[in-house]
Amino acid sequence: MVLLMLLIGSDTSYSCDVSLTTERTTVELGSRVAMTCKVCPGNSIVKINLTGMQIADYWKPLNFYSVTNTSAYSISTDILNNISHIYLTVLSLTKDQAGTYTCQIVGTQNQSSVTLLYAVPVNYVEMIPRDKVSLLNNVTTNMFSCTSSTGRPTPVIRWYTDNKTPGYYADDSDITTLASSITNSSASGDTTTSHLTFTPSTDDHGQMLYCNVSNGYGQIMSNTTPLIEILRLPSKPVIFHNANLVNGSITVMENKTLSLNCVSEGNPNPTITWITPSFSRSTPVLTITNIQTNDTGMYTCRANSTLSPTNSIPFENNITTLLSTEVISFFSSTASSRMQDWKF
Ligand SMILES: *[C@@H]1O[C@H](CO)[C@@H](O)[C@H](O)[C@H]1NC(C)=O
Ligand SMILES: *[C@@H]1O[C@H](CO)[C@@H](O)[C@H](O)[C@H]1NC(C)=O
Ligand SMILES: *[C@@H]1O[C@H](CO)[C@@H](O)[C@H](O)[C@H]1NC(C)=O
Ligand SMILES: *[C@@H]1O[C@H](CO)[C@@H](O)[C@H](O)[C@H]1NC(C)=O
Ligand SMILES: *[C@@H]1O[C@H](CO)[C@@H](O)[C@H](O)[C@H]1NC(C)=O
Ligand SMILES: *[C@@H]1O[C@H](CO)[C@@H](O)[C@H](O)[C@H]1NC(C)=O
Ligand SMILES: *[C@@H]1O[C@H](CO)[C@@H](O)[C@H](O)[C@H]1NC(C)=O
Ligand SMILES: *[C@@H]1O[C@H](CO)[C@@H](O)[C@H](O)[C@H]1NC(C)=O
Ligand SMILES: *[C@@H]1O[C@H](CO)[C@@H](O)[C@H](O)[C@H]1NC(C)=O
Ligand SMILES: *[C@@H]1O[C@H](CO)[C@@H](O)[C@H](O)[C@H]1NC(C)=O
Ligand SMILES: *[C@@H]1O[C@H](CO)[C@@H](O)[C@H](O)[C@H]1NC(C)=O
Ligand SMILES: *[C@@H]1O[C@H](CO)[C@@H](O)[C@H](O)[C@H]1NC(C)=O
Repeated sequence: MVLLMLLIGSDTSYSCDVSLTTERTTVELGSRVAMTCKVCPGNSIVKINLTGMQIADYWKPLNFYSVTNTSAYSISTDILNNISHIYLTVLSLTKDQAGTYTCQIVGTQNQSSVTLLYAVPVNYVEMIPRDKVSLLNNVTTNMFSCTSSTGRPTPVIRWYTDNKTPGYYADDSDITTLASSITNSSASGDTTTSHLTFTPSTDDHGQMLYCNVSNGYGQIMSNTTPLIEILRLPSKPVIFHNANLVNGSITVMENKTLSLNCVSEGNPNPTITWITPSFSRSTPVLTITNIQTNDTGMYTCRANSTLSPTNSIPFENNITTLLSTEVISFFSSTASSRMQDWKF
Protein backbone atom coordinates (compact mmCIF):
# COMPACT_ATOMS: atom_id res chain seq x y z
CA MET A 1 0.00 0.00 0.00
CA VAL A 2 2.79 2.38 0.92
CA LEU A 3 4.70 1.32 -2.16
CA LEU A 4 1.63 1.95 -4.33
CA MET A 5 1.28 5.45 -2.92
CA LEU A 6 4.91 6.18 -3.61
CA LEU A 7 4.47 5.05 -7.19
CA ILE A 8 1.29 7.05 -7.77
CA GLY A 9 2.60 10.03 -5.90
CA SER A 10 6.00 10.00 -7.53
CA ASP A 11 5.56 13.46 -9.07
CA THR A 12 4.41 15.17 -5.85
CA SER A 13 6.90 13.35 -3.67
CA TYR A 14 9.90 14.50 -5.70
CA SER A 15 12.53 16.25 -3.62
CA CYS A 16 10.94 19.54 -4.52
CA ASP A 17 13.99 21.40 -5.48
CA VAL A 18 13.28 23.63 -8.44
CA SER A 19 14.55 22.07 -11.67
CA LEU A 20 15.43 23.70 -14.96
CA THR A 21 15.95 21.31 -17.87
CA THR A 22 16.34 21.27 -21.62
CA GLU A 23 16.69 18.43 -24.10
CA ARG A 24 20.09 19.36 -25.54
CA THR A 25 22.59 21.77 -24.07
CA THR A 26 24.63 22.22 -27.27
CA VAL A 27 22.42 23.79 -29.92
CA GLU A 28 22.84 25.27 -33.35
CA LEU A 29 22.68 29.03 -33.66
CA GLY A 30 19.27 30.08 -35.00
CA SER A 31 17.45 27.11 -33.56
CA ARG A 32 14.53 27.05 -31.16
CA VAL A 33 15.38 25.89 -27.64
CA ALA A 34 12.71 24.76 -25.20
CA MET A 35 13.44 24.82 -21.47
CA THR A 36 11.20 23.72 -18.63
CA CYS A 37 11.37 24.98 -15.06
CA LYS A 38 9.49 22.77 -12.60
CA VAL A 39 8.51 24.55 -9.41
CA CYS A 40 7.41 22.83 -6.24
CA PRO A 41 3.98 23.34 -4.71
CA GLY A 42 3.58 26.60 -2.87
CA ASN A 43 2.82 30.20 -3.60
CA SER A 44 5.98 30.97 -5.41
CA ILE A 45 7.46 33.85 -7.32
CA VAL A 46 9.98 32.63 -9.84
CA LYS A 47 12.52 34.48 -11.96
CA ILE A 48 14.54 33.13 -14.84
CA ASN A 49 17.88 34.81 -15.51
CA LEU A 50 20.49 34.50 -18.21
CA THR A 51 23.90 35.05 -16.62
CA GLY A 52 22.47 37.42 -14.02
CA MET A 53 20.10 39.32 -16.32
CA GLN A 54 16.43 38.65 -15.74
CA ILE A 55 14.62 37.40 -18.83
CA ALA A 56 11.37 35.98 -17.43
CA ASP A 57 9.27 35.87 -14.30
CA TYR A 58 6.26 33.96 -12.96
CA TRP A 59 3.93 34.81 -10.11
CA LYS A 60 2.07 31.67 -9.20
CA PRO A 61 -0.58 33.31 -6.95
CA LEU A 62 -1.67 35.59 -9.82
CA ASN A 63 -0.85 33.07 -12.58
CA PHE A 64 1.09 35.92 -14.15
CA TYR A 65 4.08 35.28 -16.36
CA SER A 66 6.13 37.37 -18.79
CA VAL A 67 9.40 37.62 -20.66
CA THR A 68 11.42 40.84 -20.86
CA ASN A 69 11.99 40.55 -24.61
CA THR A 70 9.15 39.02 -26.58
CA SER A 71 11.13 38.96 -29.84
CA ALA A 72 13.72 36.74 -28.17
CA TYR A 73 11.67 34.48 -25.87
CA SER A 74 8.22 33.07 -25.40
CA ILE A 75 6.73 31.70 -22.20
CA SER A 76 3.78 29.55 -21.13
CA THR A 77 2.89 27.68 -17.98
CA ASP A 78 0.73 24.95 -16.57
CA ILE A 79 0.18 23.32 -13.21
CA LEU A 80 0.14 19.54 -12.82
CA ASN A 81 -0.32 17.83 -9.44
CA ASN A 82 0.26 21.25 -7.91
CA ILE A 83 3.69 21.49 -9.56
CA SER A 84 4.11 24.52 -11.83
CA HIS A 85 5.80 24.08 -15.17
CA ILE A 86 7.24 27.18 -16.78
CA TYR A 87 7.98 26.64 -20.44
CA LEU A 88 10.53 29.14 -21.69
CA THR A 89 11.46 29.06 -25.39
CA VAL A 90 14.45 30.74 -26.96
CA LEU A 91 12.95 31.59 -30.36
CA SER A 92 16.19 31.68 -32.34
CA LEU A 93 19.42 31.13 -30.45
CA THR A 94 22.01 33.90 -30.78
CA LYS A 95 25.55 33.83 -29.39
CA ASP A 96 24.38 36.31 -26.71
CA GLN A 97 21.71 33.85 -25.64
CA ALA A 98 24.24 31.11 -24.97
CA GLY A 99 25.11 31.00 -21.30
CA THR A 100 23.77 29.90 -17.95
CA TYR A 101 20.03 30.12 -17.39
CA THR A 102 18.91 30.09 -13.78
CA CYS A 103 15.40 29.47 -12.51
CA GLN A 104 15.12 30.76 -8.97
CA ILE A 105 12.38 30.94 -6.38
CA VAL A 106 12.65 34.52 -5.24
CA GLY A 107 13.87 34.98 -1.70
CA THR A 108 15.28 31.46 -1.39
CA GLN A 109 18.43 29.56 -2.34
CA ASN A 110 16.03 27.31 -4.23
CA GLN A 111 17.31 27.48 -7.82
CA SER A 112 18.40 25.36 -10.77
CA SER A 113 20.58 26.14 -13.78
CA VAL A 114 21.36 24.87 -17.24
CA THR A 115 24.15 26.13 -19.46
CA LEU A 116 23.34 26.45 -23.15
CA LEU A 117 26.24 26.29 -25.57
CA TYR A 118 25.96 27.11 -29.23
CA ALA A 119 27.24 24.47 -31.64
CA VAL A 120 30.41 25.16 -33.59
CA PRO A 121 30.60 22.95 -36.71
CA VAL A 122 34.08 21.60 -37.20
CA ASN A 123 35.53 22.89 -40.49
CA TYR A 124 38.85 21.17 -41.10
CA VAL A 125 41.11 18.38 -39.96
CA GLU A 126 44.83 18.55 -40.51
CA MET A 127 46.92 15.42 -41.14
CA ILE A 128 50.58 15.07 -40.24
CA PRO A 129 52.69 14.13 -42.17
CA ARG A 130 51.44 15.71 -45.39
CA ASP A 131 53.46 13.86 -48.00
CA LYS A 132 54.37 10.33 -48.99
CA VAL A 133 55.86 8.26 -46.18
CA SER A 134 58.28 5.38 -46.46
CA LEU A 135 57.78 2.73 -43.81
CA LEU A 136 59.43 -0.54 -42.93
CA ASN A 137 57.27 -3.60 -43.12
CA ASN A 138 56.01 -4.75 -39.69
CA VAL A 139 57.64 -1.85 -37.85
CA THR A 140 55.18 0.15 -35.73
CA THR A 141 55.04 3.89 -36.30
CA ASN A 142 53.40 6.73 -34.35
CA MET A 143 54.11 9.42 -36.91
CA PHE A 144 50.52 9.95 -38.05
CA SER A 145 48.25 12.41 -36.33
CA CYS A 146 45.14 14.39 -37.23
CA THR A 147 44.05 17.57 -35.48
CA SER A 148 40.61 19.09 -35.90
CA SER A 149 39.55 22.70 -35.94
CA THR A 150 37.69 23.90 -32.87
CA GLY A 151 34.19 22.50 -32.69
CA ARG A 152 31.27 21.92 -30.37
CA PRO A 153 30.22 19.19 -29.64
CA THR A 154 33.65 17.57 -29.42
CA PRO A 155 34.93 16.65 -32.89
CA VAL A 156 35.35 12.91 -33.52
CA ILE A 157 38.17 11.76 -35.81
CA ARG A 158 38.10 8.50 -37.77
CA TRP A 159 40.96 6.90 -39.72
CA TYR A 160 40.94 5.04 -43.03
CA THR A 161 43.19 3.45 -45.61
CA ASP A 162 41.94 3.82 -49.17
CA ASN A 163 42.64 0.32 -50.59
CA LYS A 164 44.39 1.89 -53.62
CA THR A 165 41.15 3.36 -54.95
CA PRO A 166 41.43 7.08 -54.22
CA GLY A 167 38.08 8.84 -54.39
CA TYR A 168 36.12 5.60 -53.94
CA TYR A 169 35.22 5.22 -50.30
CA ALA A 170 33.07 2.10 -50.18
CA ASP A 171 36.05 -0.30 -50.02
CA ASP A 172 38.14 1.75 -47.60
CA SER A 173 39.23 0.18 -44.33
CA ASP A 174 38.26 1.87 -41.09
CA ILE A 175 41.34 1.68 -38.84
CA THR A 176 40.06 4.01 -36.11
CA THR A 177 40.58 1.31 -33.46
CA LEU A 178 44.33 1.85 -33.93
CA ALA A 179 44.03 5.49 -32.87
CA SER A 180 43.65 7.34 -29.59
CA SER A 181 42.28 10.85 -29.13
CA ILE A 182 43.06 13.79 -26.89
CA THR A 183 40.58 16.64 -26.46
CA ASN A 184 41.71 20.17 -25.74
CA SER A 185 38.85 22.30 -24.45
CA SER A 186 38.52 26.06 -24.55
CA ALA A 187 35.68 28.56 -24.21
CA SER A 188 35.10 28.49 -27.95
CA GLY A 189 34.91 24.70 -28.22
CA ASP A 190 37.01 21.55 -28.34
CA THR A 191 39.97 20.55 -30.46
CA THR A 192 40.56 16.85 -31.01
CA THR A 193 43.95 15.38 -31.79
CA SER A 194 44.09 11.73 -32.79
CA HIS A 195 47.30 9.71 -32.92
CA LEU A 196 47.51 6.56 -35.00
CA THR A 197 49.64 3.61 -33.90
CA PHE A 198 50.17 1.82 -37.16
CA THR A 199 52.07 -1.37 -37.98
CA PRO A 200 52.23 -1.53 -41.78
CA SER A 201 52.32 -4.72 -43.80
CA THR A 202 53.36 -5.16 -47.43
CA ASP A 203 49.64 -4.99 -48.34
CA ASP A 204 49.65 -1.34 -47.30
CA HIS A 205 52.12 -0.42 -50.04
CA GLY A 206 50.47 2.07 -52.38
CA GLN A 207 47.55 2.84 -50.08
CA MET A 208 46.68 6.32 -49.02
CA LEU A 209 45.94 7.17 -45.43
CA TYR A 210 43.37 9.72 -44.41
CA CYS A 211 41.21 10.74 -41.51
CA ASN A 212 37.86 12.43 -41.32
CA VAL A 213 36.24 14.52 -38.66
CA SER A 214 32.66 15.14 -37.66
CA ASN A 215 30.88 16.73 -34.76
CA GLY A 216 27.38 16.17 -36.02
CA TYR A 217 27.30 18.71 -38.84
CA GLY A 218 28.55 16.80 -41.85
CA GLN A 219 31.96 15.21 -42.19
CA ILE A 220 35.21 16.63 -43.39
CA MET A 221 38.13 14.77 -44.94
CA SER A 222 41.71 15.47 -43.95
CA ASN A 223 43.42 18.15 -46.03
CA THR A 224 46.08 15.68 -47.16
CA THR A 225 46.15 11.93 -47.80
CA PRO A 226 49.75 10.71 -47.58
CA LEU A 227 50.71 7.77 -49.76
CA ILE A 228 52.25 4.83 -47.93
CA GLU A 229 55.33 3.22 -49.39
CA ILE A 230 56.57 0.00 -47.80
CA LEU A 231 60.33 -0.48 -47.98
CA ARG A 232 61.49 -4.05 -48.46
CA LEU A 233 64.93 -5.54 -47.95
CA PRO A 234 66.52 -7.18 -51.01
CA SER A 235 65.37 -10.79 -51.39
CA LYS A 236 67.90 -13.62 -51.48
CA PRO A 237 69.36 -13.46 -55.02
CA VAL A 238 68.33 -16.21 -57.41
CA ILE A 239 70.60 -17.08 -60.37
CA PHE A 240 69.41 -18.07 -63.84
CA HIS A 241 71.34 -19.48 -66.77
CA ASN A 242 69.37 -19.36 -70.03
CA ALA A 243 66.16 -18.94 -68.03
CA ASN A 244 66.96 -22.04 -65.96
CA LEU A 245 67.42 -21.73 -62.25
CA VAL A 246 70.90 -22.70 -61.14
CA ASN A 247 71.37 -23.57 -57.54
CA GLY A 248 74.74 -23.89 -55.85
CA SER A 249 77.01 -24.91 -58.72
CA ILE A 250 77.46 -24.86 -62.45
CA THR A 251 79.87 -26.58 -64.85
CA VAL A 252 80.87 -24.91 -68.13
CA MET A 253 82.99 -26.06 -71.06
CA GLU A 254 85.99 -23.90 -71.86
CA ASN A 255 85.83 -21.52 -74.87
CA LYS A 256 82.04 -21.10 -74.39
CA THR A 257 80.15 -18.01 -73.34
CA LEU A 258 78.74 -18.06 -69.82
CA SER A 259 75.80 -15.77 -69.16
CA LEU A 260 74.29 -15.60 -65.67
CA ASN A 261 71.33 -13.49 -64.58
CA CYS A 262 71.02 -12.63 -60.91
CA VAL A 263 67.57 -11.59 -59.66
CA SER A 264 66.68 -9.98 -56.33
CA GLU A 265 63.60 -7.97 -55.49
CA GLY A 266 63.09 -5.22 -52.98
CA ASN A 267 61.96 -1.66 -52.57
CA PRO A 268 63.92 0.27 -53.66
CA ASN A 269 65.19 -2.02 -56.42
CA PRO A 270 68.46 -3.57 -55.20
CA THR A 271 71.77 -2.94 -56.94
CA ILE A 272 73.18 -6.25 -58.18
CA THR A 273 76.93 -6.88 -58.11
CA TRP A 274 78.78 -9.96 -59.42
CA ILE A 275 82.03 -10.77 -57.70
CA THR A 276 84.29 -13.43 -59.22
CA PRO A 277 87.76 -14.39 -58.04
CA SER A 278 89.24 -11.99 -60.62
CA PHE A 279 86.82 -9.07 -60.97
CA SER A 280 83.56 -7.56 -59.86
CA ARG A 281 80.86 -5.91 -61.96
CA SER A 282 77.74 -3.99 -60.98
CA THR A 283 75.30 -5.65 -63.35
CA PRO A 284 72.61 -8.29 -62.97
CA VAL A 285 73.71 -10.13 -66.14
CA LEU A 286 77.24 -11.43 -66.05
CA THR A 287 78.57 -12.47 -69.48
CA ILE A 288 81.98 -14.09 -69.90
CA THR A 289 82.89 -14.90 -73.50
CA ASN A 290 85.46 -17.53 -74.28
CA ILE A 291 85.61 -18.72 -70.71
CA GLN A 292 88.80 -20.43 -69.57
CA THR A 293 89.57 -23.07 -66.95
CA ASN A 294 91.28 -20.45 -64.85
CA ASP A 295 87.82 -18.70 -64.51
CA THR A 296 86.86 -21.55 -62.22
CA GLY A 297 85.99 -20.42 -58.69
CA MET A 298 83.32 -19.18 -56.28
CA TYR A 299 81.11 -16.50 -57.84
CA THR A 300 79.10 -14.22 -55.59
CA CYS A 301 75.95 -12.34 -56.51
CA ARG A 302 75.26 -9.55 -54.07
CA ALA A 303 72.05 -7.52 -53.89
CA ASN A 304 72.24 -4.34 -51.87
CA SER A 305 70.06 -1.35 -51.32
CA THR A 306 69.76 1.66 -49.09
CA LEU A 307 66.48 1.90 -47.20
CA SER A 308 65.45 5.40 -46.12
CA PRO A 309 62.42 5.24 -43.84
CA THR A 310 60.70 8.58 -43.21
CA ASN A 311 61.90 10.20 -39.97
CA SER A 312 64.73 7.74 -39.41
CA ILE A 313 68.31 7.08 -40.43
CA PRO A 314 68.92 5.47 -43.85
CA PHE A 315 70.60 2.09 -43.70
CA GLU A 316 72.25 -0.24 -46.20
CA ASN A 317 71.45 -3.87 -46.48
CA ASN A 318 72.89 -6.62 -48.66
CA ILE A 319 72.36 -10.29 -49.19
CA THR A 320 74.43 -12.68 -51.29
CA THR A 321 74.11 -15.98 -53.14
CA LEU A 322 77.15 -18.07 -53.99
CA LEU A 323 77.67 -20.05 -57.19
CA SER A 324 80.50 -22.53 -57.49
CA THR A 325 81.59 -22.29 -61.15
CA GLU A 326 83.76 -24.92 -62.75
CA VAL A 327 85.17 -24.53 -66.26
CA ILE A 328 86.40 -27.75 -67.76
CA SER A 329 88.27 -28.60 -70.94
CA PHE A 330 86.94 -31.47 -73.01
CA PHE A 331 90.05 -33.50 -72.40
CA SER A 332 90.47 -32.70 -68.78
CA SER A 333 90.86 -35.61 -66.43
CA THR A 334 87.53 -34.97 -64.71
CA ALA A 335 85.61 -34.32 -67.91
CA SER A 336 84.36 -37.83 -68.57
CA SER A 337 83.14 -38.26 -65.02
CA ARG A 338 81.24 -34.95 -65.26
CA MET A 339 79.64 -35.60 -68.65
CA GLN A 340 76.26 -36.30 -67.12
CA ASP A 341 76.27 -32.92 -65.30
CA TRP A 342 76.56 -30.94 -68.51
CA LYS A 343 73.60 -28.86 -69.21
CA PHE A 344 75.04 -27.04 -72.22
C1 LIG B 1 -1.64 22.73 -3.93
O1 LIG B 1 -0.83 23.33 -2.93
C2 LIG B 1 -1.49 24.23 -2.08
C3 LIG B 1 -0.48 24.90 -1.21
O2 LIG B 1 0.47 23.99 -0.74
C4 LIG B 1 -2.55 23.45 -1.32
O3 LIG B 1 -3.27 24.35 -0.50
C5 LIG B 1 -3.48 22.79 -2.27
O4 LIG B 1 -4.42 21.96 -1.60
C6 LIG B 1 -2.73 21.93 -3.27
N1 LIG B 1 -3.62 21.42 -4.29
C7 LIG B 1 -3.56 20.19 -4.72
C8 LIG B 1 -4.53 19.82 -5.79
O5 LIG B 1 -2.77 19.34 -4.28
C1 LIG C 1 18.29 37.41 -11.54
O1 LIG C 1 18.21 38.71 -11.98
C2 LIG C 1 17.59 39.63 -11.03
C3 LIG C 1 17.46 40.93 -11.71
O2 LIG C 1 18.56 41.23 -12.51
C4 LIG C 1 18.44 39.65 -9.76
O3 LIG C 1 17.81 40.44 -8.82
C5 LIG C 1 18.62 38.23 -9.24
O4 LIG C 1 19.50 38.21 -8.14
C6 LIG C 1 19.13 37.32 -10.29
N1 LIG C 1 19.18 35.99 -9.81
C7 LIG C 1 20.16 35.13 -10.16
C8 LIG C 1 20.06 33.77 -9.62
O5 LIG C 1 21.07 35.47 -10.90
C1 LIG D 1 15.27 41.45 -28.05
O1 LIG D 1 15.65 40.29 -28.77
C2 LIG D 1 15.96 40.53 -30.11
C3 LIG D 1 16.18 39.20 -30.78
O2 LIG D 1 17.13 38.46 -30.05
C4 LIG D 1 17.15 41.46 -30.21
O3 LIG D 1 17.46 41.71 -31.56
C5 LIG D 1 16.88 42.72 -29.46
O4 LIG D 1 18.05 43.52 -29.43
C6 LIG D 1 16.41 42.45 -28.05
N1 LIG D 1 16.00 43.65 -27.42
C7 LIG D 1 16.51 44.06 -26.27
C8 LIG D 1 15.99 45.33 -25.73
O5 LIG D 1 17.39 43.40 -25.70
C1 LIG E 1 12.29 24.86 -2.53
O1 LIG E 1 11.02 25.49 -2.55
C2 LIG E 1 9.91 24.65 -2.28
C3 LIG E 1 8.64 25.43 -2.47
O2 LIG E 1 8.77 26.71 -1.98
C4 LIG E 1 10.05 24.06 -0.90
O3 LIG E 1 8.97 23.18 -0.66
C5 LIG E 1 11.35 23.31 -0.82
O4 LIG E 1 11.57 22.82 0.47
C6 LIG E 1 12.51 24.23 -1.17
N1 LIG E 1 13.73 23.47 -1.23
C7 LIG E 1 14.86 23.95 -0.75
C8 LIG E 1 16.04 23.04 -0.86
O5 LIG E 1 14.96 25.04 -0.28
C1 LIG F 1 56.17 -8.72 -36.99
O1 LIG F 1 57.01 -8.45 -35.88
C2 LIG F 1 56.69 -9.16 -34.72
C3 LIG F 1 57.63 -8.73 -33.61
O2 LIG F 1 58.09 -7.43 -33.81
C4 LIG F 1 56.81 -10.65 -34.98
O3 LIG F 1 56.41 -11.36 -33.84
C5 LIG F 1 55.92 -11.04 -36.16
O4 LIG F 1 56.10 -12.38 -36.48
C6 LIG F 1 56.23 -10.18 -37.36
N1 LIG F 1 55.27 -10.46 -38.41
C7 LIG F 1 55.62 -10.52 -39.68
C8 LIG F 1 54.52 -10.81 -40.65
O5 LIG F 1 56.77 -10.34 -40.06
C1 LIG G 1 45.47 23.22 -25.88
O1 LIG G 1 45.19 24.50 -26.36
C2 LIG G 1 46.01 25.51 -25.84
C3 LIG G 1 45.53 26.85 -26.37
O2 LIG G 1 45.14 26.76 -27.70
C4 LIG G 1 47.47 25.24 -26.22
O3 LIG G 1 48.32 26.21 -25.67
C5 LIG G 1 47.86 23.87 -25.70
O4 LIG G 1 49.16 23.55 -26.12
C6 LIG G 1 46.90 22.82 -26.21
N1 LIG G 1 47.19 21.54 -25.61
C7 LIG G 1 47.25 20.42 -26.32
C8 LIG G 1 47.51 19.17 -25.55
O5 LIG G 1 47.11 20.40 -27.55
C1 LIG H 1 33.53 10.07 -41.98
O1 LIG H 1 32.94 10.25 -40.72
C2 LIG H 1 31.54 10.02 -40.65
C3 LIG H 1 31.02 10.40 -39.31
O2 LIG H 1 31.98 10.36 -38.31
C4 LIG H 1 31.27 8.59 -41.02
O3 LIG H 1 29.93 8.26 -40.88
C5 LIG H 1 31.72 8.39 -42.45
O4 LIG H 1 31.52 7.07 -42.87
C6 LIG H 1 33.15 8.79 -42.68
N1 LIG H 1 33.38 8.95 -44.09
C7 LIG H 1 34.16 8.18 -44.85
C8 LIG H 1 34.30 8.54 -46.27
O5 LIG H 1 34.73 7.23 -44.44
C1 LIG I 1 68.87 -24.78 -53.59
O1 LIG I 1 69.31 -25.97 -52.98
C2 LIG I 1 69.18 -25.98 -51.58
C3 LIG I 1 69.84 -27.26 -51.03
O2 LIG I 1 70.09 -28.14 -52.03
C4 LIG I 1 67.70 -25.92 -51.24
O3 LIG I 1 67.53 -25.89 -49.83
C5 LIG I 1 67.15 -24.65 -51.83
O4 LIG I 1 65.75 -24.59 -51.60
C6 LIG I 1 67.41 -24.58 -53.31
N1 LIG I 1 66.98 -23.27 -53.78
C7 LIG I 1 66.23 -23.13 -54.86
C8 LIG I 1 65.91 -21.73 -55.22
O5 LIG I 1 65.84 -24.07 -55.53
C1 LIG J 1 93.60 -17.15 -67.66
O1 LIG J 1 94.68 -17.51 -68.45
C2 LIG J 1 94.82 -16.71 -69.61
C3 LIG J 1 96.00 -17.29 -70.39
O2 LIG J 1 95.81 -18.64 -70.53
C4 LIG J 1 95.06 -15.28 -69.24
O3 LIG J 1 95.14 -14.50 -70.43
C5 LIG J 1 93.93 -14.78 -68.40
O4 LIG J 1 94.19 -13.50 -67.96
C6 LIG J 1 93.76 -15.70 -67.21
N1 LIG J 1 92.60 -15.30 -66.55
C7 LIG J 1 92.51 -15.24 -65.23
C8 LIG J 1 91.21 -14.87 -64.70
O5 LIG J 1 93.46 -15.50 -64.53
C1 LIG K 1 75.80 -1.12 -52.74
O1 LIG K 1 77.06 -1.32 -52.14
C2 LIG K 1 78.11 -0.56 -52.71
C3 LIG K 1 79.38 -0.93 -52.00
O2 LIG K 1 79.82 -2.16 -52.43
C4 LIG K 1 77.82 0.89 -52.57
O3 LIG K 1 78.82 1.67 -53.19
C5 LIG K 1 76.50 1.21 -53.23
O4 LIG K 1 76.16 2.53 -53.03
C6 LIG K 1 75.43 0.32 -52.69
N1 LIG K 1 74.22 0.55 -53.43
C7 LIG K 1 73.06 0.74 -52.86
C8 LIG K 1 71.89 1.00 -53.73
O5 LIG K 1 72.96 0.70 -51.66
C1 LIG L 1 76.80 -6.42 -46.39
O1 LIG L 1 76.10 -6.63 -45.18
C2 LIG L 1 76.93 -6.99 -44.10
C3 LIG L 1 76.04 -7.23 -42.90
O2 LIG L 1 74.88 -7.84 -43.31
C4 LIG L 1 77.93 -5.87 -43.81
O3 LIG L 1 78.79 -6.27 -42.79
C5 LIG L 1 78.72 -5.58 -45.06
O4 LIG L 1 79.56 -4.45 -44.83
C6 LIG L 1 77.82 -5.28 -46.21
N1 LIG L 1 78.59 -5.12 -47.42
C7 LIG L 1 78.37 -4.13 -48.25
C8 LIG L 1 79.28 -4.08 -49.42
O5 LIG L 1 77.49 -3.32 -48.08
C1 LIG M 1 89.37 -24.39 -76.66
O1 LIG M 1 90.18 -23.69 -77.54
C2 LIG M 1 91.53 -24.13 -77.55
C3 LIG M 1 92.35 -23.23 -78.49
O2 LIG M 1 91.63 -22.93 -79.62
C4 LIG M 1 91.56 -25.57 -77.95
O3 LIG M 1 92.87 -26.03 -77.88
C5 LIG M 1 90.68 -26.39 -77.04
O4 LIG M 1 90.60 -27.70 -77.46
C6 LIG M 1 89.31 -25.85 -77.00
N1 LIG M 1 88.56 -26.61 -76.00
C7 LIG M 1 87.42 -27.23 -76.29
C8 LIG M 1 86.75 -27.96 -75.18
O5 LIG M 1 86.92 -27.16 -77.38
